[in-house]
Amino acid sequence: MKKVETVLDLIGGTPLVRIEKLADPQGAQLWAKLEYLNPGGSVKDRIAQRIVADYEAEGKLLPGGTIVEATSGNTGMGLAIVAAIKDYRSIFVMPDKVSDEKRRLLRAMGAEVVICPTAVVADDPQSYYSVARRLAEETPGAVLANQYFNPSNLNVHYEITGPEIWEQTDGKIDAFVASMGTGGTISGIARYLKERNPAIKVWAADPFGSILKTYKDTGRMTTGHPYLVEGIGEDIVPGNLDFEVIDEVVNVSDADSFHMSRQLARQEGIFAGGSTGTILKLAVDVAAGMRPGQVVVTIVPDSGERYLSKHFSDEWMQDKGMLTRERASLELLRQLKDQELPPIVNVAGDQSVKEALERMSAYNVSQLPVIDGKRNVGSVRESNLLAKVLADNAQMEQPVKEVMEEPFPTLEESASVAQSIPLLLKHQGVVLIRDDRPVGFITRHDVINFSDGR
Ligand SMILES: Cc1ncc(COP(=O)(O)O)c(C=O)c1O
Repeated sequence: MKKVETVLDLIGGTPLVRIEKLADPQGAQLWAKLEYLNPGGSVKDRIAQRIVADYEAEGKLLPGGTIVEATSGNTGMGLAIVAAIKDYRSIFVMPDKVSDEKRRLLRAMGAEVVICPTAVVADDPQSYYSVARRLAEETPGAVLANQYFNPSNLNVHYEITGPEIWEQTDGKIDAFVASMGTGGTISGIARYLKERNPAIKVWAADPFGSILKTYKDTGRMTTGHPYLVEGIGEDIVPGNLDFEVIDEVVNVSDADSFHMSRQLARQEGIFAGGSTGTILKLAVDVAAGMRPGQVVVTIVPDSGERYLSKHFSDEWMQDKGMLTRERASLELLRQLKDQELPPIVNVAGDQSVKEALERMSAYNVSQLPVIDGKRNVGSVRESNLLAKVLADNAQMEQPVKEVMEEPFPTLEESASVAQSIPLLLKHQGVVLIRDDRPVGFITRHDVINFSDGR
């Protein structure tokens, strides 16, 4: 590792990582740019550094000056780092829906934090935008970072982040997927990429409740409604959002965003925030609709650490109605259940009754699916096998396929727990979960434990 003077020198140059398991193998390659590896843990370090540098160059920010910003946390963290290193005072104004971790983090960096209500319109004097503007005007020597309208935001992504992606893919990129908060990330990167190759398609993920999709599609300003994903979607149209370089905007729900973020951690080892879930939900769909060999790049704006008490908490998810039995997928249920057993224990049709019984006893289960290759061909029950062997010991050597009963019912991973209940009520009480082959199973107990709030 090279030596650097300050952590500011570590901003940018983030890697692209292949998203393997969540991407459809029949679709395009999916690559994620890990912006949480910036020193402040988010993409916003880039704009913080640039905004301060530009204000200094313009002579508007002098030694001992103050940086004020309306921020949901990440820009604050970036600016707090710059302020700490350069000895500026920093004051951050944020809406009350922002996680406690984010507030504490800024205070830990020596910043001052002011909290405002979320449920007011942007031009209300109590909104976090209005309060930040007033504080910047009333504090001597202060500048408003103004990430929503300050061109330094879009410019840094146009001049630095966009070229990084172009170089990392050797210009072989067919689509780019991101979200819209201030719009700086997507607009700056998309503007650069489209200048290099106008055929690159740019997709934006927008939370349901944000006004941006309707504005892009119809030009109409509507009233937003509250949603839970932090940092993205708007009730204003930010100055740094350039819809000219965005081809399509797709709405994503809070539940889909959070479940995707949780899956990303569990399956790809990428511990990222809720907005990453929003983006990745769309990116996975976009890549699935493209050809193998094509390349989709997406963005991981921040780390999951700041959301441990939010969507990474099962209690919080249940409290928000997003882990209810009806909504949960079998895949989620399978992930949450006891991890001590292998995901699936089975026998093949030509294994012997003896082997099947040994396996049941080794794993302490009373029935097994019979799986040949990828096919779910039958099932065996311990009581039934024991009865046969008791009557005739020679049955021990019989192949399972001669004595097996009907196969367990199967459902896709994406099926809901609610769909599994009629099947679990059948006498076997087991449902196999299938991808292109059986990948796991659930029992009545799994569903009951889950709805108990486990
Ligand atoms: C967590 C998170 N994700 C995504 C974004 C969106 O980035 P941008 O503001 O560049 O549109 C932001 C910032 O607003 C954010 O805080």
